[in-house]
Amino acid sequence: MDSILVTGGKPLRGEIAIAGAKNAALTLMPATLLSDEPLTLTNTPRLSDIKTMTALLQSLGAEVSALADGKVMAMSSHGLNSTRADYEIVRKMRASNLVLGPLLAREGHAIVSLPGGCAIGARPMDIHIAAFEAMGATIDLKDGYLHATTQGGLKGGVVKLRFASVGATENVLMAATLAKGTTIIENAAREPEIVDLATCLRAMGAQIEGDGTSRIEIQGVDRLHGATHPVVTDRIELGTYMLAPVIAGGEVECLGGKLSLVESFVEKLTEAGITVEETDRGLKVRCDGGRPKAVNVTTEPFPGFPTDLQAQMMAMLCFAEGTSVLEEKIFENRFMHAPELIRMGAKIDVHGGTATVHGVEKMKGAPVMATDLRASVSLILAGLAAEGETQVNRVYHLDRGYEHVEEKLGAVGAQIERIKGQ
Ligand code: UD1
Repeated sequence: MDSILVTGGKPLRGEIAIAGAKNAALTLMPATLLSDEPLTLTNTPRLSDIKTMTALLQSLGAEVSALADGKVMAMSSHGLNSTRADYEIVRKMRASNLVLGPLLAREGHAIVSLPGGCAIGARPMDIHIAAFEAMGATIDLKDGYLHATTQGGLKGGVVKLRFASVGATENVLMAATLAKGTTIIENAAREPEIVDLATCLRAMGAQIEGDGTSRIEIQGVDRLHGATHPVVTDRIELGTYMLAPVIAGGEVECLGGKLSLVESFVEKLTEAGITVEETDRGLKVRCDGGRPKAVNVTTEPFPGFPTDLQAQMMAMLCFAEGTSVLEEKIFENRFMHAPELIRMGAKIDVHGGTATVHGVEKMKGAPVMATDLRASVSLILAGLAAEGETQVNRVYHLDRGYEHVEEKLGAVGAQIERIKGQ
C-alpha cells in the first residue's frame, strides 16, 4: 500500500488548481440513470471514488467513458438492464446509495444493498427510506438489501426530512424529477452540491425551484433529455489547500475558489488572524509566519462549518496560540485523526463529540496511520509544519478524495513524495 512522506518546514508559495467536487460528481453521475439520452460531465475530479461509481453504473447497464484524461465523463443509460446495486460495490462507498432514487423514478423498482458502517459512524438510511415511502414506494429489507417497489411509479407529495441529510435530499431530488405531480422537500439540505445537482437536472429538462434553501419544489415531468454540465468546484479540497500556507507559512492562491463556497470556514480563518483575499482567479491565503490564534469550531449542515473540513482545521489548531474547542455535530466518530496528531506532539483531549486542542509551538514528524479520507489529509497538513519526516500510511483513503495531492503540494514548494507500496 502506498504512503506519503512529508518533510516539514518548507514555506509554500504559488498556485493550486482546485478540482471539481467529489461529492457533486458522485451525485451527478447517477443522474444519468434518469434519461436514455447522454449526460456529459466536465471538470470531473480524477479519484478512485469516481471509478467506483463508474463500476456501479456499468453494472446497471450504463455506458460510462472517462475522456480528456478523466476530466470528462461521458455517460449514457439507454441500455439500462439492471436495477440491482450489488453489495460488492456499495460497501466500498456510501454514495452508491444515490442510485436508488433514479432507479426507482425510471423503472419503478430497485434493489440496493445497504452500505453498512463506515469509519466515521453508523450512517443509516432511514431518512432516505421514509422519504421514498412518502412518495408511495414500499421498501423492505431482505438479505441486507433494500427492496423498493412502487405501484405504477413514484408520486409527488410533501417529503419532510427529519434531518437535512445531504444524500437523502439528493436522492429525493433526482427521483422527484420523474414522479407524478409535485414534490416538496421540507428541511432540505442546502449544500452547494445540491444546487449543482439541481442545475444539471434543470439542464436535462427538470422543473425545480428553491434549491439552496430548505424548501425545494419539484414538478415531475415525463422524461429528461441529455445535457452537458460542469461539476462545481470542490469546496473541501479548496478549504484543505487554503489551510496549507496557514500551517506551513507562505502564500497560496487556490484557483477556482469562491468565497460563497466556504464562507463559514473563512470566517474562522479571519477570526484566527489569517488574511484571505478573493481575486478574479480564486482565493489567496497569506500567512506571515506568526501562529494563528485559537478559535472554537462547531460542525453543522451548510452554510455552517463543514464536517469534511473539521480534521484539517484541527491540524491547524494544533499549532495555534491558545486553546480551541472543536465540536463535531454531524458524525459521531470523527476524531480518529486526534490520536495520530497526538503521536506528532499535539495536545488534544477528546470527550465524546468534543475535542479540546491546546496549541503547541512545534510538532515532530512521525509514522502515522490514515483512518479516513479527511483524516489522512489532516495528517499531511500537520506534516508540512512538523519537524522532520512524517510518513502517512494507508493512503488509499486519500486517493478516494484528493487527486495528485503530492503533485499539487509539491508544486508550491512542499517537500512531499509518494512511496509506492508493494
Ligand atoms: C454527505 C457527503 C459526506 C459529508 C456529509 C455531511 C457525499 C457523497 N458525502 O454524506 O462527505 O461528510 O454529506 O456533509 O456527498 N443520517 C441518518 N439517516 C439517513 C441519512 C443520514 O441518520 O438516512 C445521518 C448520518 O448518519 C449523519 C448525518 O445524518 O450523522 C449526515 O448525513 P448525510 O448528510 O446524509 O451525509 P451523507 O449524504 O452520507
